[in-house]
Amino acid sequence: MSSELVIKHLMKHYAAGAKPAVNDVTITIEAGNILALLGPSGCGKTTTLRSVAGLDHPTGGTISIGGRLVADPANGLFVPPQHRNLGMVFQSYAVWPHMSVRENVEYPLKNKKLSRKEIHLKAAQALELVGLEEYADRPVVALSGGQMQRVALARSLSYRPSLLLLDEPLSNLDAKLRIRLRDDLRKIIKDAGVTALYVTHDQAEAVVIGDRIGVMKDGQLLQHDAPAALYNHPRDLFVANFTGAATVLNVQLRKAENNALGAFIDGCDTQLMSLPLEVAAQPGPAQIAIRPENVRLHALAASPRHDQHPARISSRQYLGTQTLYSLSFHGQTIDIVELGTVPRFSEGQEVLIEFPLECLTVFTTH
Ligand SMILES: Nc1ncnc2c1ncn2[C@@H]1O[C@H](COP(=O)(O)OP(=O)(O)O)[C@@H](O)[C@H]1O
Ligand SMILES: [Mg+2]
Repeated sequence: MSSELVIKHLMKHYAAGAKPAVNDVTITIEAGNILALLGPSGCGKTTTLRSVAGLDHPTGGTISIGGRLVADPANGLFVPPQHRNLGMVFQSYAVWPHMSVRENVEYPLKNKKLSRKEIHLKAAQALELVGLEEYADRPVVALSGGQMQRVALARSLSYRPSLLLLDEPLSNLDAKLRIRLRDDLRKIIKDAGVTALYVTHDQAEAVVIGDRIGVMKDGQLLQHDAPAALYNHPRDLFVANFTGAATVLNVQLRKAENNALGAFIDGCDTQLMSLPLEVAAQPGPAQIAIRPENVRLHALAASPRHDQHPARISSRQYLGTQTLYSLSFHGQTIDIVELGTVPRFSEGQEVLIEFPLECLTVFTTH
């Protein structure tokens, strides 16, 4: 039975007078959904997760799991971790080294007043879920890191928790294994049907695993959205940068024809683009963020279209399956990624660049 998690105005001060580690975080994970909590080291992800687990005592706000209040410090309410029916998976594998794979998975079932047969069945189901049924009788220490993390996952799913908490579970694995388990993890969690809070500092992991992504910085939740919404409509420059490289152009917005706003590159009178009214910003200085994957490159033409602008390729880095270009454009640098194994342009070349309006985000700086 998966449960909804509701966090309201969560606060955690480790010490009086110190900056809060978690500062007014409000977030809901619907039953059966996965939320990836993403942010740089030290932003408060683990503290949020530990507060949900009951391993940390929040200093403000409330936490409810499946409609049941489990933490409400203002009213002195705190349900200890063992009474919250949670599964947890951490960075370290945390398996019992002297036991077999099956014994590890059966271990938490033994306190649950189940028959021997039920324990065996539930453990077998959990092992099947993570693809380890054939390894059941091996000593757990004979497994690879990725497999041990699957054991930890099976163990925390075997008793059907209402909520699964994962804190950087892939961080100790090498790059290849990390990607393989990352892709499997979402399927395993979805097959188990459990609500999950998944903490990571890796944006690629967050996108693959989360139904929704919450971006944290300095204890605060900056944005909480579906992955595509977060990538295409980041609310501020921090989110734009943290969810993948973004090129930032400094511009001046000025009133143009038809009440639209023209974006002019700083210190230059060429109008870069005419912004549609829905991005309605005020005239004045602004920043335009665009991802390197979305800027278009064209060969020079005798009469370029009004939305194509001349620029020069200042450097090129060939990566085999893609090429990274750095362009200088009126004193600013623009990064562009071109997919494919054959680069179309060379260093020093004059080209035309185009910024598709639907792929850029305007942040006003006033
Ligand atoms: N037990 C603790 N005592 C005091 N400060 C802590 C403790 N745990 C974490 N912090 C501080 O709280 C902030 C958030 O930490 P944490 O939640 O671990 O961040 P993250 O998981 O995003 O890296 C950091 O500034 C960290 O130094
Ligand atoms: Mg952490």
